[in-house]
Amino acid sequence: MDGSEINYVKSKDYWSNIPASLNGMLGGFSSLTTLDVNDSNVFLKKLFKIENGPSKNRALDCGAGIGRITEQLLSKHFECIDLLEQDEKFLNEAKLKLDGTNAKNFYCVSLQDFSPDNDIKYDVIWIQWVLGYVTDNDLVEFLKKCCKSLNKNGLIVVKENISSNEEGEIDTEDSSVTRSFGCFCYIFQKANLMCVARRTQRNFPTGLYKVEMLALRPVDNLKQI
Ligand SMILES: C[S@@+](CC[C@H](N)C(=O)[O-])C[C@H]1O[C@@H](n2cnc3c(N)ncnc32)[C@H](O)[C@@H]1O
Repeated sequence: MDGSEINYVKSKDYWSNIPASLNGMLGGFSSLTTLDVNDSNVFLKKLFKIENGPSKNRALDCGAGIGRITEQLLSKHFECIDLLEQDEKFLNEAKLKLDGTNAKNFYCVSLQDFSPDNDIKYDVIWIQWVLGYVTDNDLVEFLKKCCKSLNKNGLIVVKENISSNEEGEIDTEDSSVTRSFGCFCYIFQKANLMCVARRTQRNFPTGLYKVEMLALRPVDNLKQI
């Protein structure tokens, strides 16, 4: 499995029929948002404390949906946040909800078509529950672009479901894949990224996928440490 099973038209169409609500974002599990954000908060605070940890100027929320993570997590830590989301209806909801906050740019574009603004650098690029919609090749390219958009000491944080099947799993309903930890490691290596911190999401109900948080840093930047 290399993600070539993903059909971008089909997954975009799937999301266009999902309501712009917490339940829509979380597949009916809106009650998990508190547990999710609390654990992310613990992880992010730990990242600020690591040696050569990120600054708190600017973050990018990728696959941002209605801005749940920006609103509940990133806005509490960063001076300014940009959101990247391909579905216009979700992004419009995010704009409404985040009006008057420290959310600044709202990019309506897919991860695979995103061209970051060369003048903007991020301290943290937060990517959660969206990578399953991007093919392996496009994902490597996207991560490489993210690397170029990182500030000194910047980190990419990936929070995703992990399949216990080494090959990964395909969901034909929304045309997505759930990758194994090994699949992710292979992709990160190809994007020249190294994991500097990891935390497993706690207290999610049994029966759901294991969720991992991984903080990644370009291997080249490690030479600065
Ligand atoms: C499960 S929701 C998660 C939303 C948000 N990250 C959160 O945790 O609340 C997945 C989101 O990814 C978006 N998405 C799916 N494929 C995408 C792509 N190729 N590029 C950008 N966003 C995408 C969907 O529109 C949806 O908003």
